[in-house]
Amino acid sequence: CSQEVGGGGATGPSTIQKIVDRNKLIIGTSPGYFPFEMKDKQGVNVGYDIDLGKAIGEALKVEVEFKEFEFGGLIPALQTGDIDMVISGMTIRGDRALAVSFSDPYYSAGQIIMVPKSDSATKTWKDLDKPDKKIALAQGTTGALLAKQLFQNAQMMDFDGFANAALAVKQNQADAVIFDEPGIAVYEIMNGDSVRGIYDTLSSENLGIALPLNDHATIQWMNSFLASYRNGPADQAAIQKWFKS
Ligand code: ARG
Repeated sequence: CSQEVGGGGATGPSTIQKIVDRNKLIIGTSPGYFPFEMKDKQGVNVGYDIDLGKAIGEALKVEVEFKEFEFGGLIPALQTGDIDMVISGMTIRGDRALAVSFSDPYYSAGQIIMVPKSDSATKTWKDLDKPDKKIALAQGTTGALLAKQLFQNAQMMDFDGFANAALAVKQNQADAVIFDEPGIAVYEIMNGDSVRGIYDTLSSENLGIALPLNDHATIQWMNSFLASYRNGPADQAAIQKWFKS
């Protein structure tokens, strides 16, 4: 390949160089976080992150493949080189940054709680911190980590992914779930007869693209890409499509 885009730290070519050489970008996704990554009726991955991934592929002039994982499997897949990057509504955190390097933030998303619609009494998470209450958690997410910090008395129920945790709330098997606000907002639009979001932000977070650890050429490229993509026309269109309609 004729295009040279720089080395990847101490050992071998950068990830960005590998993507260009193989003419394909492989992105890790964990569908079920509306409206960032989800399946349409045909089972095709769609959402804000999917459009972002396609725009990255376009900028690099390569084909894009999305590989699916449980959310907790994304960082391990990046570490083994199974995928080139994670674009999956992932919150930038210091503990994760020991294993991967993050791009600059591309979106902010606070944590909120969602309760069954039949519960009209609950005003804050504190109302639910009682031994007879069950909190549904999407394993490996920041919502789950936050719930374990906040709740001292309630019981925790682990689920694979937000969709399953939310279903437990919808079916009155759990008393609440904590998750990213955009995900709850869309879930409530789709299930407004059975659930209710409480839009009181418990923590504010930044979402970033996870890249192989210390691959400076790749981090540098991605931040340059994001600087021009964010709020440019393609991003405006994606924001309009996924968050405003
Ligand atoms: N922002 C949260 C986190 O980083 C939740 C992300 C869940 N993403 C997903 N694609 N299921 O833990």
